[in-house]
Amino acid sequence: MKQILRPVDRDLAHVTERVLASLQHPVARQAVYLITAGGKRLRPALVLLAGRSGRYKARQQALIELATAVELIHTATLIHDDIIDGSALRRRQPTFHHRFGTERAVLMGDYLYSLAFSILAKLHEAYVTTFMADICQQMSCGEFLEVESRFDVDATEAQYLQVVRDKTASLIAACCHLGASVAGAKPDTVERLSQFGWNFGMAFQIMDDCLDLMGQEQTVGKTLRSDLDKGSLSLPVIYLAGALPIGRREALFAPLRRHQSPDRLALARIARAARRVGAITQALHTAGRFVRRATDVVAERDGVVLADTYQRLARYAIARVH
Ligand code: IPE
Ligand code: IPE
Ligand code: MG
Ligand code: MG
Repeated sequence: MKQILRPVDRDLAHVTERVLASLQHPVARQAVYLITAGGKRLRPALVLLAGRSGRYKARQQALIELATAVELIHTATLIHDDIIDGSALRRRQPTFHHRFGTERAVLMGDYLYSLAFSILAKLHEAYVTTFMADICQQMSCGEFLEVESRFDVDATEAQYLQVVRDKTASLIAACCHLGASVAGAKPDTVERLSQFGWNFGMAFQIMDDCLDLMGQEQTVGKTLRSDLDKGSLSLPVIYLAGALPIGRREALFAPLRRHQSPDRLALARIARAARRVGAITQALHTAGRFVRRATDVVAERDGVVLADTYQRLARYAIARVH
């Protein structure tokens, strides 16, 4: 990842400094450990990268501000998401609510959201602020829909894809769209980069859900198995349900039907079955289709600068281990 993002690494370091500088208030400082713990900085990187397809130098400071706001928004959603998912580990650290309690975590998420919007407002580009506000609503709706669909053993692929589009791909697409747009890239380039973001974001979350089911916590650095634990059926599990004969499916999903978290043994059985029937392979295949769509819309001749970086990023979405 670091290697792929080399073209923007200097400004990405500025973004991290800027994020840390924005967390000076005694309350906000409690969130500093999450920023210094790392994170891939994927979303700010996409802002900066998209800016390269426009007048980057002239708009450098605005792009750094935009990227800062995006990472703050992302951090806020992670803090809230970890409460929702009951997760204990994030970026190899205790989650915010595990460290400081749920009340503070709710408030810190709110604080970071509003901090991000005051940074955006200071750009004096109403379009950017409005666009991002719409995206934040879409993300909330995605998480909301996921919560509402819990323990729905008959969830469909289409419902799942809608959740992923709203909760994850929307922000990633916005990073590409606004980065290009703020830098004054041509409308066609803005549109292409936005399409890259939508498709890349879909692949990224599908892979995340495969890692949730199959990955190792030490490697991924965050709490895993939380999807099924909370009754969320991710794509590999939906494919598994479709592949099993009805009797076997009812037996395997019995706790979920009763709105109970599967215990460790039941979880392991589901993961094993998902691998055995090819549900993981099928989910990765679907993610691969999004990767191809992402790479197809991005080519140098279309006015996209650093096209090979996008190609490598897209492939990384489904090759990553954390
Ligand atoms: C985690 O995002 C939330 C998802 C959309 C899967 P990242 O995997 O980008 O998290 P960090 O920022 O690298 O920790
Ligand atoms: C939530 O998805 C993504 C957000 C928009 C916050 P996940 O619940 O799968 O993200 P992780 O696995 O906790 O990072
Ligand atoms: Mg989560
Ligand atoms: Mg996850």
